[in-house]
Amino acid sequence: MIVAIANQKGGVGKTTTAINLAAALALRGKRTLLVDLDPQANSTMSFLDMQTVTRSVYDAIADPTVPLADIIRTTSVGNLAVAPSRIALAKLEAKLVGELDAHFRLKDKLDQVRRTYSHVVIDCPPTLGLLTVNALVAASHLLIPIQSSYFALEGTDDLLETIEKVRSRPNPALQILGVVITMHDKRTALGRDIRAQIQKVFGGKVFKTVITKSVRLEESPAYKESIFTFAPDSSGATEYYRLCEEVIDRA
Ligand SMILES: Nc1ncnc2c1ncn2[C@@H]1O[C@H](COP(=O)(O)OP(=O)(O)OP(=O)(O)O)[C@@H](O)[C@H]1O
Ligand SMILES: [Mg+2]
Repeated sequence: MIVAIANQKGGVGKTTTAINLAAALALRGKRTLLVDLDPQANSTMSFLDMQTVTRSVYDAIADPTVPLADIIRTTSVGNLAVAPSRIALAKLEAKLVGELDAHFRLKDKLDQVRRTYSHVVIDCPPTLGLLTVNALVAASHLLIPIQSSYFALEGTDDLLETIEKVRSRPNPALQILGVVITMHDKRTALGRDIRAQIQKVFGGKVFKTVITKSVRLEESPAYKESIFTFAPDSSGATEYYRLCEEVIDRA
């Protein structure tokens, strides 16, 4: 199973969802690879010391002769490995201009490690550019985090259009696994309204598990930990664990 976590809107909880879903899968004994495709490298920083990251997904994607395994790093979490990002990834688009296989580079690299990992989670950047398209072409499933906010659904049309384009040619097998509502505040009328609105648009695709707003979730990456070791009794830990169960059930 290869899950891309994508939404071109910035700051909606993609990275928080990617790191904690990957950690939850690993905790459940699944051999998991977290691929950081965002030049901001936030997923990478959540598990690794950036000073030790000398090679990144960029090196493997830009050079067909570099195997993905060469850049993959183990983490302090059992069963969890990371394919790290560096700012160099921002140069990828320019580097691959004119390459006929530009959209298939990540897929080809992941094919090399399919026997090593049962689950791959890809953290996408907040764009619909070449990096996100590479993730959608490589993925079996797409998970869309939507922030519980007044403008929650703005931009989802563009995302759905991109998904349809990818499905029509390079990856007809791509499935929308689901939509997860993040940073939710169930105490306010606005929060409840937004949830209803998202459910109206995405229906049964919306996960039953909703991720509520939580300071612990916000803090955990700074300590290079997932929510499961940083604050195992927090609402965020319970919610991401439940989301992981739903993900496994749906796939
Ligand atoms: N449930 C939550 N409760 C409180 N804060 C959260 C929650 N989820 C994410 N955040 C915080 O919101 C900010 C944005 O989250 P995150 O980095 O996961 O979003 P993103 O979609 O990956 O952003 P970008 O588009 O920049 O990659 C971060 O500071 C994160 O710590
Ligand atoms: Mg992010």
